Amino acid sequence: MKLSIVAAVMAACSTVLSSPVYEKFRHGPLNVTTNGTTVWNRSNHSNVSGGAAGAIGTKLKVFITGGSVPLSNTSQFPNVEWQTLFNASSALNITQLYNVASSVNQTLQDDTFSGVVIVANKPSIEALGFFSAVVFDTNKTVVVTEDPASGIPVAKDFGSQFRGALTVDKKSGLIYSGVFAPAERGAAGVPVGLLHETQVNWFMEPSLPLLIDTTSPIRVTYSNFTTTNVSNNSPVVPIIFDGNFSQSIVNRLAGSINGLVVAVPDFVSNSSTSTLSSTQLPVVFAGVSSGIPFVAGDDVPSDAIAAGYLSPIKSQVLVSIAAANNVSSPASVDQLFP
Ligand SMILES: *[C@@H]1O[C@H](CO)[C@@H](O)[C@H](O)[C@H]1NC(C)=O
Ligand SMILES: *[C@@H]1O[C@H](CO)[C@@H](O)[C@H](O)[C@H]1NC(C)=O
Ligand SMILES: *[C@@H]1O[C@H](CO)[C@@H](O)[C@H](O)[C@H]1NC(C)=O
Ligand SMILES: *[C@@H]1O[C@H](CO)[C@@H](O)[C@H](O)[C@H]1NC(C)=O
Ligand SMILES: *[C@@H]1O[C@H](CO)[C@@H](O)[C@H](O)[C@H]1NC(C)=O
Ligand SMILES: *[C@@H]1O[C@H](CO)[C@@H](O)[C@H](O)[C@H]1NC(C)=O
Ligand SMILES: *[C@@H]1O[C@H](CO)[C@@H](O)[C@H](O)[C@H]1NC(C)=O
Ligand SMILES: *[C@@H]1O[C@H](CO)[C@@H](O)[C@H](O)[C@H]1NC(C)=O
Ligand SMILES: *[C@@H]1O[C@H](CO)[C@@H](O)[C@H](O)[C@H]1NC(C)=O
Ligand SMILES: *[C@@H]1O[C@H](CO)[C@@H](O)[C@H](O)[C@H]1NC(C)=O
Ligand SMILES: *[C@@H]1O[C@H](CO)[C@@H](O)[C@H](O)[C@H]1NC(C)=O
Ligand SMILES: *[C@@H]1O[C@H](CO)[C@@H](O)[C@H](O)[C@H]1NC(C)=O
Repeated sequence: MKLSIVAAVMAACSTVLSSPVYEKFRHGPLNVTTNGTTVWNRSNHSNVSGGAAGAIGTKLKVFITGGSVPLSNTSQFPNVEWQTLFNASSALNITQLYNVASSVNQTLQDDTFSGVVIVANKPSIEALGFFSAVVFDTNKTVVVTEDPASGIPVAKDFGSQFRGALTVDKKSGLIYSGVFAPAERGAAGVPVGLLHETQVNWFMEPSLPLLIDTTSPIRVTYSNFTTTNVSNNSPVVPIIFDGNFSQSIVNRLAGSINGLVVAVPDFVSNSSTSTLSSTQLPVVFAGVSSGIPFVAGDDVPSDAIAAGYLSPIKSQVLVSIAAANNVSSPASVDQLFP
């Protein structure tokens, strides 16, 4: 087919796709209620700019934690408020993630906002996306991105509701659940949509990943993981590479760290040489892969935890959230993993 014909066919498809997104999804509209009264739903503002400036439910808030943001031209985004938390140049640590969470939580409680966009530097996207997916139990929109110009159009599209926190890749426009955002170094993720210029094409109905859906252990047994004012906001959970550490070092560290993530190469199997484990400390084996990693329970030493499809960084964030909420026994932490 000639390229011009391909382009014409694609243009025709995008016309079909441009009907309001809530008419296509089986899911009902997001109803935000305060004291039992519906304050807004999708019927009276089909997109975020649909209401009068300042009207209830029409605003977005963008939090800046890093990245290079042309703050000089924010005026091109109406009904968007901006708040700079800090300007980190390297990956955010767990203390900083919790600082972000307190501010974001306050905004999510405020019904004048339909959602938030969190802008972070590139090395923080995976951790912040996963952290946001676990900590923010909301049907409102939460978008994590390097670039506000990618995050805002996704957040303004009400198809971003009911999905938990999302990340948007600046370069490809691919939109991922925070649970399945690509691990570092160009690894694969599980996309749910694609941003093309300012138009969002959703690939599937809004839904939550099973890891954080309403029946998951994280939401049922450990519902306190949504706490942003945690008892210890600086847990220590190092990531080490398989083979670099001996069991005696792990035993000696047990009193001073809250958990350990052992990064193992792709296609780990019983033949893995590592035998690190602990009965006192969660020791999680997580795969490093350019695809989607997978480490199964029978691939790891007894007393150790298999991360399933979670990468080392996501495992580190999950063990840190658990530790921050005083959940530290290996058996409890094991329940959190897929
Ligand atoms: C929102 O409220 C409408 C009308 O009461 C209802 O039909 C719809 O199912 C509700 N949506 C959700 C997601 O609960
Ligand atoms: C909701 O109810 C509480 C307690 O009755 C009251 O203080 C608060 O102002 C109400 N909020 C709204 C938005 O009406
Ligand atoms: C949407 O409708 C509700 C209920 O009728 C109303 O209270 C609210 O102000 C409306 N929101 C906008 C943005 O018009
Ligand atoms: C939106 O809320 C209003 C006020 O409660 C309600 O009358 C209307 O049916 C709702 N629309 C939808 C689509 O649920
Ligand atoms: C958003 O809604 C307003 C009012 O309903 C409408 O004028 C505008 O074209 C809509 N914008 C988009 C991008 O759909
Ligand atoms: C953060 O700092 C970098 C380097 O100093 C700068 O280029 C960038 O514009 C800053 N970002 C914000 C949001 O202030
Ligand atoms: C906003 O800033 C970006 C980057 O500096 C620039 O490319 C763009 O043209 C600016 N847009 C407006 C409307 O000034
Ligand atoms: C999200 O919406 C669903 C209905 O679709 C509801 O059952 C659930 O409680 C809501 N979650 C939150 C955190 O409000
Ligand atoms: C979120 O903020 C609200 C209002 O500031 C507060 O009442 C609530 O406890 C906070 N929730 C969490 C989970 O920290
Ligand atoms: C955080 O939680 C602790 C214990 O539950 C409480 O004493 C403290 O006042 C809370 N801090 C804030 C800022 O809410
Ligand atoms: C997190 O980073 C901040 C800013 O760089 C630093 O002050 C703090 O000590 C770090 N916290 C931990 C637990 O590493
Ligand atoms: C959070 O909930 C878990 C499970 O119920 C519990 O073991 C833990 O102590 C709680 N954390 C805090 C800080 O209360």
